[in-house]
Amino acid sequence: CEGPCLGPGKWPVCLCISEISLRARGLLIQKKRAFVFCFAESSTKIPKGLKSECLGLFFFPMITKVPSEKILRAGKILRNTILSRAPHMIRDRKYHLKTYRQCCVGTELVDWMMQQSPCVHLRTQAVGMWQVLLEEGVLNHVDQEHHFQDKYLFYRFLDDEREDAPLPTEEEKKECDEELQDTMLLLSQIGPDAHMRMILRKPPGQRTVDDLEFIYEELLHIKALSHLSTTVKRELAGVLIFESHPKAGTVLFNQGEEGTSWYIILKGSVNVVIYGKGVVCTLHEGDDFGKLALVNDAPRAASIVLREDNCHFLRVDKEDFNRILRDVEANTVRLKEHDQDVLVLEKIPAGNRISNQGSSQPQHKYIVMSGTPEKILEHFLETMRLEATLNEATDSVLNDFIMMHCVFMPNSQLCPALMPSQGTEQEKMDYALNNKRRVIRLVLQWAALYGDLLQEDEAAMAFLEVYCIDQTYTTIRVPVSSSVKEVISAVADKLGSGEGLIIVKMSSGGGTAPLPEQEGPSTGTVGTFELMSSKDLAHQMTIYDWELFNCVHELELIYHTFGRHNFKKTTANLDLFLRRFNEIQFWVVTEICLCSQLSKRVQLLKKYIKIAAHCKEYKNLNSFFAIIMGLSNVAVSRLSLTWEKLPSKFKKIYAEFESLMDPSRNHRAYRLTVAKLDPPIIPFMPLLIKDMTFTHEGNKTFTDNLVNFEKMVCIYAQI
Ligand code: CMP
Repeated sequence: CEGPCLGPGKWPVCLCISEISLRARGLLIQKKRAFVFCFAESSTKIPKGLKSECLGLFFFPMITKVPSEKILRAGKILRNTILSRAPHMIRDRKYHLKTYRQCCVGTELVDWMMQQSPCVHLRTQAVGMWQVLLEEGVLNHVDQEHHFQDKYLFYRFLDDEREDAPLPTEEEKKECDEELQDTMLLLSQIGPDAHMRMILRKPPGQRTVDDLEFIYEELLHIKALSHLSTTVKRELAGVLIFESHPKAGTVLFNQGEEGTSWYIILKGSVNVVIYGKGVVCTLHEGDDFGKLALVNDAPRAASIVLREDNCHFLRVDKEDFNRILRDVEANTVRLKEHDQDVLVLEKIPAGNRISNQGSSQPQHKYIVMSGTPEKILEHFLETMRLEATLNEATDSVLNDFIMMHCVFMPNSQLCPALMPSQGTEQEKMDYALNNKRRVIRLVLQWAALYGDLLQEDEAAMAFLEVYCIDQTYTTIRVPVSSSVKEVISAVADKLGSGEGLIIVKMSSGGGTAPLPEQEGPSTGTVGTFELMSSKDLAHQMTIYDWELFNCVHELELIYHTFGRHNFKKTTANLDLFLRRFNEIQFWVVTEICLCSQLSKRVQLLKKYIKIAAHCKEYKNLNSFFAIIMGLSNVAVSRLSLTWEKLPSKFKKIYAEFESLMDPSRNHRAYRLTVAKLDPPIIPFMPLLIKDMTFTHEGNKTFTDNLVNFEKMVCIYAQI
């Protein structure tokens, strides 16, 4: 607010300013009326007793635009033609005891326009053409209150605002005759846009059926909406809002803010700006932006800054967007930076794989299909829900990233990306602080998933120490048997001060448990073996297998699948567990083959089948399969006399077990069985490994610098 009489901060200075400046010529003549118009449009009450002196002060600094020469000329030509062909149209008119000087009637202007040119077929077309003149102040409503309407309302040409407006000379009339058709053509070209703006400025509740039809027709030409159905476009016609901004450099919204609207560019262009990166891309007429925050209920992923003066947008507010568009929006979103794809997102129904069901949750969500490592990280940090607790299911999405990042973004690349960007400016502080909280959250989840393995990585350790300057996170190394006091003193050493330190919680991520090498038996042990019950044996085996299985870190599966040499890491626990499978299998074969007595062999066979049955009961599928595979080994299966002597009850059970191993239809029988089991289970590890290898070898990890994140998610799901 510039005017001293108006009081600071009282006046809306957004849309109405561009309105005023568009009407510059009109203002200079009719200041007060124009002022009234301005507030009427911005729906603010008109202050009573406004002094005319202060209007000047208020207005003059803002007048930046005058009607364009083209439109001024168009107005002159139309006025002169009317004066020469139908002079009665412009005259003094009375309404409610008041006389309005030298004005025309809306309906008559529309009639006249339609008679002048065969290219104007519809009254709405003519309305748009007159609206062009009105928007630039070349034609004005006598009370400055209305946009152009096909009604009994009075409008006056700019030239007639002067009391002594000159009549056109003969020569001028002739010139105007010659130029009339070109003028009509010009106005008919830009008329529809002006008409559209006029309708879109009306509050949605005031749009008529014709208005909605008109908007709908115009929406058919907008690129960003081309994929939408007729029904959706018709619904949009009722809620779209016109928004314009006069100045380049205006920030439409900032990165990190809550998303409230989706935008389509009608005119002009904007820059997409990201902290620490600057301008990453430019969007033009027909492009859209701002839906990510709405669909994912996440903060804005970038700031949007106007690249030129006088940009026009169509805006859909969040509530309408969610109602009309969320579920029908395009399936794929590609984000670009410097003309390169950096993130490809795909829409999936929420609750499918991401377990955040519940009626208040969005119906759909965009998930990452591929992207550059840095952009994927940026996306996860941005969409992270800080308010959720660490073990809430929503974070499983982040786990995909944390677990799999070693494949496409080694710690030496991840850690620098997590560091706060240098040279933080004051205006970014909020964002940076928020971001820091997100990084800490990620690091906590990282530490929880990796456990002790994180300590083996130099890059990660160095990073965690740097981050502790903030005193938000620190890592120390102490023996497992340390007392509370010892832990505190180690932390105090690290932080340089022990004041106020208390231990809140201690927990262990579980370590690796190297086991002594197991020698396979060289002589049959059937004698002692007979003394033990099958159930006890299966139980002991399961306890042992569980311990081994539990020690296998998820990362080992990743290293194994993607090739351990790529990571320079060992997979000792996984190797042990896999060896255990072979061990059991060969133990079964060895015991049976080392037993020379037929009757004892039959007993052994029965025993193994029983053990297998108990293993299955204990959900130890690894040993179950190892035993069955041992029994089906040719060295055993060829012992036809032994099998003949096996009681038919056992034959039946064995046949049933064997059918579970049937590899047809991708081990369907096994998968169905496992699907019915509640965890914890010890899975048939070789099949899991086969599945992961299959996924790995059948899908590229990178395509054109973009990480195939869908593959990562797929493999992590198997893990
Ligand atoms: P949203 O996060 O709602 O707000 C910023 C918008 O910028 C974002 O949605 C996208 O529509 C758009 N955008 C375009 N390119 C990028 C990019 N490379 N990174 C982030 N956002 C982008």
